[in-house]
Amino acid sequence: MTMSFMSSFDFILPTRISFGLGVSGELGRELEALGAKKVLIVTDKGIIKAGLLDRVAKSLEGKVHYEVFDGVEANPKDRNTEEGAAVAREMGADCVVALGGGSPIDAAKVVCILAPLGGRAQDYKGKEKVKGECLPLVTIPTTAGTGSEVTFASVITDTEKNYKFSMRSTKIAAKVALLDPELTLTVPPAVTASTGIDALTHAIEGYTATATEPIAEAVGLYAVEMIASNIVEAVHHGDNLGARSEMLLGSLLGGISFSHSDVASVHCMAESLGGMYDAPHGLCNAILLPFVMEYNLPEAEYKYARVARAMGIKEDDDRRAAVLGIEKIRALSKEIGLPSFRSLNVKEEDLEKLALLSEENMSTESNPRKIDRKGYLELFKKAHKG
Ligand SMILES: [Fe+2]
Repeated sequence: MTMSFMSSFDFILPTRISFGLGVSGELGRELEALGAKKVLIVTDKGIIKAGLLDRVAKSLEGKVHYEVFDGVEANPKDRNTEEGAAVAREMGADCVVALGGGSPIDAAKVVCILAPLGGRAQDYKGKEKVKGECLPLVTIPTTAGTGSEVTFASVITDTEKNYKFSMRSTKIAAKVALLDPELTLTVPPAVTASTGIDALTHAIEGYTATATEPIAEAVGLYAVEMIASNIVEAVHHGDNLGARSEMLLGSLLGGISFSHSDVASVHCMAESLGGMYDAPHGLCNAILLPFVMEYNLPEAEYKYARVARAMGIKEDDDRRAAVLGIEKIRALSKEIGLPSFRSLNVKEEDLEKLALLSEENMSTESNPRKIDRKGYLELFKKAHKG
């Protein structure tokens, strides 16, 4: 089957991307070029412990005044964004730098909204709810990854209702993204594995979501190839700079893909789990990805076959290639040591609630095959059985 593209689309990428060894050392110069005088660096304690803040902050000396907010938690919480915004306001920040994995970057995006515009993260939930100018943002990812350094989205946990909500707006896109593979060399194997599968999921969902367009399809498919051929090496030999570079690039492309398309049911389910159980996002995706792909197969056979071939499967028949691709993803997850659904200790009585939260996620409508609460419940039950 061949594809014919007969509709229109729109592509915007407001972020300048600078990729390469040592580019994080250019931060000071980048900030000067943006005209920044007082900079708030949003990060977390793990990044500081790993010595990454010191490395990056060196280039700021004598150039700009900066302060650090390191209070971002995993699955970034609404309270983190409010605390960060209070610090930004107090110091009169005119620019924000996000340094870290997806959590500090997503939190920093909301700090950029709240500091000048006020309110709470919840006020900006949904699509294009940001009216007015945000603080300019520079992103420096330290994992490969969420792709959040180039996306227009932020996912935040509501700590009262224990669910994750997202906001999408081109206004929260970074002005500059500095992607330095050296910063990812010290990421431990378990994090490399789970964030790597998160990136793979972005690529596959970005490519196959109903909201996709040709650029998102192209970069998504290429990202699948880069990630699938480097993830095992990056997990088992973390000091392999080549593998780390390809993973960071794959994560970037995955981010571009899904932010110009959408994520789909894997993320809807993973975000429900992350919100209720505070479970690691990448791990949830890794567990759920093959189950959702099996469900989607009747509607996504051709694209899943291409995904499989991008992962190195040699098979001409689309159906067989797609099935082999799903098996390969299961095998990859095992090979890189990702645990099973059981490790999340999900209670059976919570499955109904998880299914409902998944159905309510705005990306449900982007899934290549229609799905409702009942469909989600069945998938959760299958995953729960293992
Ligand atoms: Fe994700």
